[in-house]
Amino acid sequence: MAPIIAPSILAADFANIQKEVEMLNESSADWIHIDVMDGVFVPNISFGMPVIAAIQKHAKKPMDVHLMIEKPERYVAKFRELGADTISVHYEACPHLHRNLQQLKDLGCKAGVAINPHTSVELLEDTLQDIDLVCLMSVNPGFGGQKFIERTYQKVRRLREMAKAQNTELLIEIDGGVNSENAPKLIEAGADVLVAGSFVFRSDDPIATIAGLKA
Ligand code: DX5
Ligand code: ZN
Repeated sequence: MAPIIAPSILAADFANIQKEVEMLNESSADWIHIDVMDGVFVPNISFGMPVIAAIQKHAKKPMDVHLMIEKPERYVAKFRELGADTISVHYEACPHLHRNLQQLKDLGCKAGVAINPHTSVELLEDTLQDIDLVCLMSVNPGFGGQKFIERTYQKVRRLREMAKAQNTELLIEIDGGVNSENAPKLIEAGADVLVAGSFVFRSDDPIATIAGLKA
């Protein structure tokens, strides 16, 4: 099955956000990945509600919102209202993850959990049945344009194995440093969704780059 491609708007030209979203609408991208950073959970601040509302105004594809923020329960209802189809919270930011997942389900969106490179997939053993999507960070969250961490392949394989036993519908998403070289290997290891920021937006022909990843 062809992978779900989710270009990360973090790498887009914010001065031309409408044009960038229209380009994604026209492309074979499946989702639009939206990185929200609070400067506390991660050492960087990206953007918040008004920018997401601007993206939503033009987007014709589902919005995949990745929350790199502390206490995400304060804001998830608002992100849902702004049109998020998938919302991922960070395992490391949620001491009551089970409750966070319940909240996301109640809001009617796909419930996602993102895990940092140092976090073992085994830690999801007791929540996997309640998760729609696991976002495996293949860089340390906070910045685009970083180098892919090779250990990720093993994590994908292990998580796919766990999912076979516990949640056959689970989507595995890879986020960080994805390019045409690692994409086929990630899919082969069991990934379903590929997020790509710089590789798409820094390329000469983003539409062709997206099509290449999809193929
Ligand atoms: C990193 C973000 C990623 C980022 C990926 O904290 O979660 O989604 O935009 O960018 P690239 O593809 O450039 O690594
Ligand atoms: Zn992300």
